[in-house]
Amino acid sequence: MTEMNQSPTDKKQQQQLSESESDTSTTDETATPPPQSPVNYDIIINKHTDRGRSLYTTFKKLGEGSLANVYKTDRIILNHPNRRCALKIFPHQELAGPSFCSELILFKNVSHPNIIKMFDAHVDPKYFYLEMEACAGGDIFTNICKKGKMEEEIVKNIIFKIIDAVRCLHEKDFVHRDLKCENIVFVRKNDMTDIRLIDFGESLHVQSTHIYDEMVGTPCYFAPERFRRPSGDELKKSDVWSIGVIMFEMLTGFRCFYGGDDEQKLQSKIMNKAMKWPANLIISEDAKDFLDNLMKIDPLKRFSCQQALEHKWMNTIQLQQKTKTFYNPRIVYTL
Ligand SMILES: Nc1ncnc2c1ncn2[C@@H]1O[C@H](COP(=O)(O)OP(=O)(O)O)[C@@H](O)[C@H]1O
Ligand SMILES: [Mg+2]
Repeated sequence: MTEMNQSPTDKKQQQQLSESESDTSTTDETATPPPQSPVNYDIIINKHTDRGRSLYTTFKKLGEGSLANVYKTDRIILNHPNRRCALKIFPHQELAGPSFCSELILFKNVSHPNIIKMFDAHVDPKYFYLEMEACAGGDIFTNICKKGKMEEEIVKNIIFKIIDAVRCLHEKDFVHRDLKCENIVFVRKNDMTDIRLIDFGESLHVQSTHIYDEMVGTPCYFAPERFRRPSGDELKKSDVWSIGVIMFEMLTGFRCFYGGDDEQKLQSKIMNKAMKWPANLIISEDAKDFLDNLMKIDPLKRFSCQQALEHKWMNTIQLQQKTKTFYNPRIVYTL
């Protein structure tokens, strides 16, 4: 079994995987036209805005991903106190523009208490900037590396919030496609009660039966159907599988599926659901049954988010907690 502090498969590896997978695909071409984007890209990309960094005070790095770095900073607002925020800065390069646009489209269309809030966005000749709510507790991956596995009750509370947020995405026909421990952050330091989903760079508005063949995301969180060409409905179920992988990793402190540099090995482990529970791990039968339903190999048999929320493992989430989740009214952003 592989401890979490071994580096997760990165996007370069995903691209290599994408190439090697393209020959083995078995699904037929679809006749469905590509879905229309709900937002006009030309309005968002205004390269002459040129506001960029001058709007912010000093920067402290919060994290880094494959396309962007994220900094804690304060937004300077004339005649008002500064606004604390997280600023995601993407240097202009091939994949940054589409990734930035995907995040904007998502934030314009979906809002939930456990989805990070976007405050503002800018483009200047060098960078794309995404100004968001700042979270102080670090991501789940970093927390597991530092502190090891988590208690079942804590995991249950976190999983409930992730699933409720992803249910909200799916209801609006968006999929995340890159749910993983690095893309969920704790709102406060040393407090595991509140989380936010981040990183919507691979998110997509989908149609149920349309076939999607882009191999984006992080392979060790891929559901089996991600190795062929899944439909929009299947991509929603792939998000559910990834939540299962996250749950396993939080409960055990170990990678759920790991193939090192061997992508075929990783794929084979996932296709056969070859995951090993540590022998000394004590968790409830309800938790195991819940996870089993999130990670059915056949996406048709796998739970949807709504079904997951109705499982008995979720029944013991305090009612107070459940009533706290609500849909925020649509926020209109100035771009
Ligand atoms: N709003 C935020 N508050 C606190 N930390 C964040 C925030 N957004 C991102 N981070 C940190 O920065 C890292 C990279 O951000 P992310 O949006 O995932 O970038 P990428 O798309 O390049 O993966 C995350 O894994 C997380 O640790
Ligand atoms: Mg990320």
